[in-house]
Amino acid sequence: MDPKSPQKRIRSYLAYVRDVFGAELLVNREKKMTELDLYRKSIEQCTKCALSQTRKHFVFGDGSPDADILFVGEAPGAVEDETGIPFVGRAGKLLDKALHHIGLDRDSIFITNVLKCRPPGNRDPLPDEIALCEPYLHRQIELLNPRVIVALGRIAARTLLRLPSDTSLTSMRKQSFEYHGVPLCVFYHPAAILRNAGREGEYFQDFEKLKETYLKD
Ligand code: URA
Repeated sequence: MDPKSPQKRIRSYLAYVRDVFGAELLVNREKKMTELDLYRKSIEQCTKCALSQTRKHFVFGDGSPDADILFVGEAPGAVEDETGIPFVGRAGKLLDKALHHIGLDRDSIFITNVLKCRPPGNRDPLPDEIALCEPYLHRQIELLNPRVIVALGRIAARTLLRLPSDTSLTSMRKQSFEYHGVPLCVFYHPAAILRNAGREGEYFQDFEKLKETYLKD
């Protein structure tokens, strides 16, 4: 094998990680990936609601199983439905821009949605759809065990915090919350910023605050 082959470099990096941090770190990462993957396989054929008849893909989530930060959006849109990957359309590009702004990328976070299937025409999720789908999100959070959760937009925030359906995003954005002991921040949904560019400054400020508070070490 070429002494500089990618496989050899990865192997020597893993040996280095094992020496410095102990084998448990690698075993735990492997275990988390497997658990998450098994969980995805166990739910991706879901037919609990009518969205299963119109979806092209069940969109489980994407990113690192070791991520400190979990982002939760609303539901897949057209491009996400086509690809099976969350936040890859226009709103996703704006999310990527904000992540880069604070030195993160899609491989250093995990991202998912309240609904795993696209509501036709991108309408708001119905209460029944949320009720049937949200147990998947709660189990994902249990498996991922993030250090902080960011709810993108009102639907994610109200679902995770069990708040009444008339709670405004502006009021939630200014408060600190917890989800079963895990700090939870509420940010504007990037799609809302695409509709109202005047809020872009505040949108980026929220990410800067996230960095200051949770990414210091
Ligand atoms: N909007 C969302 O809330 N989630 C996606 O995956 C894409 C757009």
